[in-house]
Amino acid sequence: MMRSRVNSLALLSLASLLATACTSEKVVYRDGPNYAQPTTGAASFVGYSDEASKKTVCGSCHVEKQAKWATTKHASAWKDLSSSGTMQTYCQPCHTVGQNGNPSADAKAGFGDAAAAQYHDVQCESCHGAGLSHVSNPSLTNYPLASIAADTAAKNGCGECHSGTHNPFVNEWRVSGHADTWTTSHNSTDPYCQSCHTGQGALATWGITSNYVEKNNTSNGTANMLGATCATCHDPHGSANKAQLRFPINTASTETNLCMKCHQRRGTFQDAIAQGRNSVHSPEGPTLLGQAGWFPPGMSVADSIISTHGNVSKNPNLCATCHVAKYAGTDPLTKAAVNSTGHRFLATPCVDASGLPTLTQTCAVTAMSFRSCVASGCHGTETLARAAFNTATARVTLLNNEGTRLVNLIKAIPAKAADCTFSATKPYNSCLGLQFNQSVVTKVGGIIHNPFLLEQLMVASITQVKKDYGVTVSANISLEPQLKRPPTVPLSGTQH
Ligand code: HEC
Ligand code: HEC
Ligand code: HEC
Ligand code: HEC
Ligand code: HEC
Ligand code: HEC
Ligand code: HEC
Ligand code: HEC
Repeated sequence: MMRSRVNSLALLSLASLLATACTSEKVVYRDGPNYAQPTTGAASFVGYSDEASKKTVCGSCHVEKQAKWATTKHASAWKDLSSSGTMQTYCQPCHTVGQNGNPSADAKAGFGDAAAAQYHDVQCESCHGAGLSHVSNPSLTNYPLASIAADTAAKNGCGECHSGTHNPFVNEWRVSGHADTWTTSHNSTDPYCQSCHTGQGALATWGITSNYVEKNNTSNGTANMLGATCATCHDPHGSANKAQLRFPINTASTETNLCMKCHQRRGTFQDAIAQGRNSVHSPEGPTLLGQAGWFPPGMSVADSIISTHGNVSKNPNLCATCHVAKYAGTDPLTKAAVNSTGHRFLATPCVDASGLPTLTQTCAVTAMSFRSCVASGCHGTETLARAAFNTATARVTLLNNEGTRLVNLIKAIPAKAADCTFSATKPYNSCLGLQFNQSVVTKVGGIIHNPFLLEQLMVASITQVKKDYGVTVSANISLEPQLKRPPTVPLSGTQH
């Protein structure tokens, strides 16, 4: 009975869609979602039409979503749980479809009420909520939208399952800058700023026009604006990239790399001129790829220096190698394993006695963990990695301080002082270029993102102001490259 009702209504709404010139085959009505009528307690969750072949009732019409989702780990959550040999009842709500992960009003829904195979795995309704009403009457006005938000407390999206001691993804993300990208931008109403500083803006800019709960919550000054949430970086329905990422992390391109799509606003002096500001804004992508900075006349773009850190054949996961590194620590009291998921996005975190990142990240370099440098197989020990960090930082900082001294000397030459003040309408010069390069250097992490480029940018711009303004470089400053790649790490760019 139910089946024929679905049939006729679905055909009706499909016909009205076709009438509005929809040629997409993303939603195809297929005859036969012969689902069992949910029990009353299951709170209208429909689940699988056939568990063995992973056919969800939703997927019988939403064929494109079904095909993608079936390839994700969500679709094998029950198999992995039950074959782990350690399954207990309390494990199940996160490995099945029911009250977890959606705003279901019931304390127990789906599997939580009726422990049937129909509700195995993390299915569509885990995120979208109960679907019986929509399935019985699919229309453009009656459908269960999912949320792209994430929190530990609120009953929404990923948080209810991806949190807690063993999987503290949301717990870590919540205190990271990515949860807070909207406030960082000083709540800018400019859609351009929002394209990197809000989840909604990023999805729209990336052409993900999908519908979700918060899609139209884009008004300023409200609590509606979301940061870079889980569903900003991860495609909830699956993707060709590892870990369901929306874009790859292993491409050396600011156009295609997930992280670099945002971390690249103003990295070159051409960007600075175009945007009317002589300093960087999120230059991490261009710095890593050897493109950031002002290249003085003697240093052409062809000389761009890419360190091992930015070389995709030596460091395939690029940004994520250092910034999304998961590991286990040990609770000093219970000796139990505790996990860091890497979703604080810290490359060299300050850690507590368990080895987990501390809330405040203000420790000395000696107390920072350099674990990601070793786990990646790039550096032999944490001590060696820390030493390399210190050496590069000391050298580039010395050059930067010299740069500041030289800029002040130029400013003291009455006829030249004005050169050092930026205006987009006057010709660019080496005093401005030196200052731009200093902003690349002083951006947190810049030195590690590309020590060899930054040393060379400073050396070349110091050499250029010396030539242009006759200022004298301090005797203790060597203008020869001092930073040497460790012999075990092969050369990967053009070393000067
Ligand atoms: C019998 C076919 C059918 C089934 C089964 C079905 N849907 Fe739909 N769904 C539709 C149609 C038709 C629309 C409206 C047209 C469209 O969005 O292209 C729709 C719309 C939606 C939308 C809104 C899409 C948008 O563009 O805003 C969501 C979300 C959705 N369905 C989720 C689900 C979920 C979750 C299930 C399973 C509980 C499900 N659907 C089951 C046919 C179906
Ligand atoms: C709070 C929700 C939650 C509970 C409770 C839970 N899990 Fe999970 N489980 C997850 C999440 C989220 C992942 C995915 C983590 C990841 O990809 O790193 C996962 C992954 C797994 C995996 C796959 C691991 C792998 O390496 O692929 C197994 C097996 C597993 N859980 C078993 C269990 C067992 C056994 C229990 C109970 C003792 C349990 N889970 C309880 C949420 C949960
Ligand atoms: C892990 C959570 C999750 C799961 C599982 C999931 N969805 Fe979604 N779904 C979302 C989110 C979040 C969005 C909005 C963002 C997006 O589409 O990337 C969405 C959007 C949609 C839309 C709107 C698409 C549009 O074009 O406007 C449809 C339809 C949909 N999902 C159907 C499904 C179906 C069918 C399944 C199961 C085969 C499913 N979803 C599984 C979270 C999920
Ligand atoms: C009902 C609980 C639940 C919800 C809700 C949920 N997940 Fe999961 N997720 C899991 C479990 C369990 C696994 C591990 C399955 C396994 O490995 O067997 C998992 C695995 C994953 C993985 C690992 C994929 C891989 O290839 O390693 C990603 C990424 C992920 N989930 C993202 C999300 C995102 C993003 C959302 C929200 C839009 C979400 N999940 C919502 C339970 C959930
Ligand atoms: C800024 C982008 C970004 C955001 C935001 C983000 N992730 Fe991830 N996530 C990643 C990257 C990158 C990886 C893959 C790291 C690797 O395997 O090298 C990953 C991996 C994962 C995995 C697989 C871990 C494993 O065991 O292999 C899960 C599960 C996951 N993320 C869940 C989440 C959840 C839940 C949220 C929201 C709290 C979230 N992510 C937010 C970028 C992000
Ligand atoms: C949607 C745009 C977007 C994407 C994609 C993105 N980021 Fe970010 N990221 C931001 C913004 C905006 C901030 C500034 C947040 C702040 O300072 O509060 C930020 C901050 C950071 C921080 C500083 C974290 C902190 O707690 O202060 C790191 C590190 C970082 N991102 C690394 C990454 C990596 C690695 C990736 C890829 C896996 C990535 N980001 C992807 C927009 C993005
Ligand atoms: C192309 C992406 C992108 C755009 C567009 C963008 N930002 Fe950002 N912004 C970022 C990222 C990524 C970060 C964090 C990394 C960093 O600070 O280097 C950031 C950091 C910031 C910060 C913190 C800077 C600091 O040094 O602490 C502020 C403030 C900010 N943005 C404001 C804005 C405003 C206002 C706009 C619009 C005029 C804007 N952003 C446009 C990507 C972007
Ligand atoms: C070789 C390891 C490595 C790689 C690769 C790497 N980073 Fe970093 N990053 C670091 C280190 C180390 C710091 C400095 C941390 C500190 O001093 O607190 C840092 C700092 C940062 C910061 C500033 C964090 C803050 O606290 O303000 C951002 C943002 C950032 N990186 C983003 C990125 C992005 C985006 C990429 C890829 C384009 C990337 N990083 C590639 C190691 C790396």
